[in-house]
Amino acid sequence: MQYLRNCWYVACLSGELGQSMLARTICEQPLAFFRSTDGAPAALTDACSHRLAPLSAGCLKDGEIMCRYHGLRFGRDGRCTHNPHGPATASLAVRSWPSAERHDLVWVWLGDPDAADPAQIPDLSFIDTTPPHAKFTGYLETAANFELCTDNILDLTHTDYLHPDTLGGGGLTRARGQVTTQGDTVAIRWENPAEVAPPALDREFIRQGELSDTVTQVEWVAPAILRLSVDVAPLCPDNGDEIRTATMHIMTPESPMRTHYFVVSTRNFRADDADYNAGLAAFINGIFLTDDKPMLEAQQARMGTADLWACNPAMLAIDAASVQARRVLQRLIAAEQHQPENADSGTK
Ligand code: FES
Ligand SMILES: [Fe+2]
Repeated sequence: MQYLRNCWYVACLSGELGQSMLARTICEQPLAFFRSTDGAPAALTDACSHRLAPLSAGCLKDGEIMCRYHGLRFGRDGRCTHNPHGPATASLAVRSWPSAERHDLVWVWLGDPDAADPAQIPDLSFIDTTPPHAKFTGYLETAANFELCTDNILDLTHTDYLHPDTLGGGGLTRARGQVTTQGDTVAIRWENPAEVAPPALDREFIRQGELSDTVTQVEWVAPAILRLSVDVAPLCPDNGDEIRTATMHIMTPESPMRTHYFVVSTRNFRADDADYNAGLAAFINGIFLTDDKPMLEAQQARMGTADLWACNPAMLAIDAASVQARRVLQRLIAAEQHQPENADSGTK
């Protein structure tokens, strides 16, 4: 499978990378993530230069990895710093991969290392400015292709059928989403004026079942970074303030049929309530676990190893945004592969 290389992929939630190493395969590349002594993330190919033992099975010593098999040590730049059996030569190095930490997420760059610029990480600073108890995260491995997971968010009409009692209420099917593509960004917007809000948000108002204006939007950028926002303004101001949520859904391919699915969700209400926040996290992450994940995995099982287009799927109006996003990604991958120097040589 061909992946976009010159882009930042989310490798893990910041909270997942503690004092020990984290093994994670991204775009079929096994990687060992760890923190240097200064706390900055680092990523090395997860295979020792000696006999290819997984470095993630080793241990961390003073911000360096010691291979568990015969004791070679590697710094964050991949150079061998200690060889108990002889000289620590340059040829013992393993590849290091540019990494950075932004917006409660650890990012890794799999393309030309000279082009790795953390300034290209999408600006998700709304996460940084959200109070700690007004946001939560989620991570779920999903046995489905990352573009199937992307389609799931770009077509939210599925909430009316897959989550009818929680996230859906029929509104997104009625609204007829409007798709816009600007440059490499695909957006879809559903407007539901003067309707009862979806069940999970309606319950936040003083009186349930009253009318609100709801706007739901998803914005996609490559490779699979989606911001989903829902704004609900009650028609009667006595029914509470406007509710706003903004949730990142980020899909990082592990392999053609497996995806690392990350969620970072923020809201503007009950911002100081830690118990409420924990309950909401369990509720929302639980919906994905019990509803979306099984559906996506069952879809993938029916497709086997075939690409979506090879399955000749029927296209509906609701697929417009996901088709656009697939096209943009294909265009970006094709452009990258036609660059005169498709450098992918690493930072040995
Ligand atoms: S495999 Fe790592 S030191 Fe031998
Ligand atoms: Fe869903």
